[in-house]
Amino acid sequence: MSEPISFTPGSLDRDSTFYVAGHRGLVGSAIWRKLETEGFKQLVGKSSAELDLKDRNAVFEFFARSNPRYVVLAAAKVGGILANNTYPVDFLSDNLRIQVNVLDAAREHGVERLLFLGSSCIYPKFAEQPIREDSLLTGHLEPTNDAYAIAKIAGIMQVQAVRRQYGLPWISAMPTNLYGPGDNFSPEGSHVLPALIRRYDEAAKSSTPVVTNWGSGSPRREFLHVDDMAAACLHLLENYDGPEQVNVGTGTDVTIKELAEIVADSVGFSGAIEWDTSKPDGTPRKLLDVSKLSKAGWSASIGLEEGIRATVDWYRSNLAEIRS
Ligand SMILES: NC(=O)c1ccc[n+]([C@@H]2O[C@H](COP(=O)([O-])OP(=O)(O)OC[C@H]3O[C@@H](n4cnc5c(N)ncnc54)[C@H](OP(=O)(O)O)[C@@H]3O)[C@@H](O)[C@H]2O)c1
Repeated sequence: MSEPISFTPGSLDRDSTFYVAGHRGLVGSAIWRKLETEGFKQLVGKSSAELDLKDRNAVFEFFARSNPRYVVLAAAKVGGILANNTYPVDFLSDNLRIQVNVLDAAREHGVERLLFLGSSCIYPKFAEQPIREDSLLTGHLEPTNDAYAIAKIAGIMQVQAVRRQYGLPWISAMPTNLYGPGDNFSPEGSHVLPALIRRYDEAAKSSTPVVTNWGSGSPRREFLHVDDMAAACLHLLENYDGPEQVNVGTGTDVTIKELAEIVADSVGFSGAIEWDTSKPDGTPRKLLDVSKLSKAGWSASIGLEEGIRATVDWYRSNLAEIRS
């Protein structure tokens, strides 16, 4: 059953076809930019309107036509707590179908290097901090996004199974919270950082005297700029091989209060920042252990303040086109 894995660290061929699934999303668009900058000439991407990855026949036809040598799977149904909690069936079913179709088609067409992207929510709610890769499947998941997490865990398992059964050197990466150009700033669908940027920017523009945030502001979270994430993805594809998923983060965290202050400062909000402690806080701390990534030779380079300022600039320049 198991075939030997053949992987030699080194540059991917810039002239080979590289399919970025989800190339218009936060992560996919950053990976696309990075690959362009690095000289990849045969990039392929399809919007969900052009190719619905839930449609198995369409996915197989696309792979037969485009025959990619490399694939990054950054297409997924993604959302914040509210969306995950309200539409768990969609987060489970859509993500399973997208993954199974892409991974099956990639396997049938012998894709040489494939990177599957998951999320830090795959880890148990009470995993020891910082969260190591080997804590996967050692405890219960956070119930608000367990359906999404189970789909992502199934993706990691499929990559591992393909490695065992077919000997293809495919890998998985689990990013921490990401932010940057192309993020989702909608009030319903967004994650904490883009939601704060939007709220404080609107408050600054309307000279609102006070902004009140949910919770105490004491939970600690980690944030990685998506351009760093894209650099990490290419680094892993060129330098790392192994069945276990690799955490991708900065290795440092901030309190939500500190985060709100950086955002307020970046948008020029000079009012008061208050905290509604009657609202829930969520997990006290979520920080990934990034020693495996460091050992693979990569570390983040974009500081949080610098990254947030750049994201605010992008948000303001793209207000007309951003996802609402
Ligand atoms: N954002 C984060 O903080 C974060 C953190 C950790 C992990 N991740 C992971 O990174 C990956 C990408 O996340 P993201 O933040 O970049 O999400 P995103 O901005 O919402 O982008 C998702 C992409 O998936 C595509 N897509 C969704 N459903 C599709 C379908 N049925 N057929 C074809 N394409 C489809 C979308 O295409 P269209 O735009 O054409 O509709 C879009 O390009 C996910 O696996 C996610 O778990 C993200």
